[in-house]
Amino acid sequence: MLTPENLYEKAKETAEFLLQKTNGKIPEYAIVLGSGLGSLTEDIDIETEMPYGEIPHFPVSTVEGHKGSLIFGTLSGKYVMAMNGRFHYYEGYSMYEVTFPERVMKMMGINKLIVSNASGGVNKSFKIGDVMIIRDHINFFPEHPLRGKNDQRFGPRFVNMSEPYSKKMIEVVENYAKARKICYQKGVYLGLSGPTFETIAEYNMVRVLGADAVGMSTVPEVIVAKHMGMEVFGISVITDIDDPELIQSVNHEEVMKEAKKAEPVVRELVRALVRDY
Ligand code: HPA
Repeated sequence: MLTPENLYEKAKETAEFLLQKTNGKIPEYAIVLGSGLGSLTEDIDIETEMPYGEIPHFPVSTVEGHKGSLIFGTLSGKYVMAMNGRFHYYEGYSMYEVTFPERVMKMMGINKLIVSNASGGVNKSFKIGDVMIIRDHINFFPEHPLRGKNDQRFGPRFVNMSEPYSKKMIEVVENYAKARKICYQKGVYLGLSGPTFETIAEYNMVRVLGADAVGMSTVPEVIVAKHMGMEVFGISVITDIDDPELIQSVNHEEVMKEAKKAEPVVRELVRALVRDY
């Protein structure tokens, strides 16, 4: 079991295991492939792929549509590590398990993280299929990934969260998107545990709280990445919107279908970021 007391040693062991597999090569980026980015693997010149089950201390991904493997290879000329499938809190993993991969990334020497997800849009100007650059988040998970004894080797007890998503990375992606006339949104992502989709009243609450989109991942991972001083870029595909009519039909298949449609745009933006930054 992962605990705040053993996290550092376990993450170190896993990082050393992985670096052995890469012959000591340290990826420049880690990329979490959520819904909407799974096919980024097609853009990666894959060197090694490792099922989570073969990686020491790694939890195993269970949810439909999320494969579980780590991929090492070259993307846009840079050596990267991609997580094909993430661990969600609603699957029953502890917060330490959900965010264990980020611990390992940093221990490997990776300083730049890209996270992607699918989300429900609550901003009235959003449409299904929109791509949203995450500029900030609201943590609505019932448990905090940094709760418990703080290991100073990872980072400070009290973490500054004034810039969870790197302004420089956002600028690079926005410049690219504007030059190519690629439409995108920019907004605040609110993370909650799921696995239920929101009631109409809850979508309204999310909007009133100041978010543009809502989903069931990303926030714990970003908190832990910031704990360790990583630079983060987040991107979300709006797969459903809280229109009372439309929302009646929201389900996992619909979310996956819409996420898939937006994949080419997300992939292009991620390729550009990795190349230019
Ligand atoms: N709510 C929460 N998570 C989601 C949604 C949503 O509407 N769409 C995709 N992930």
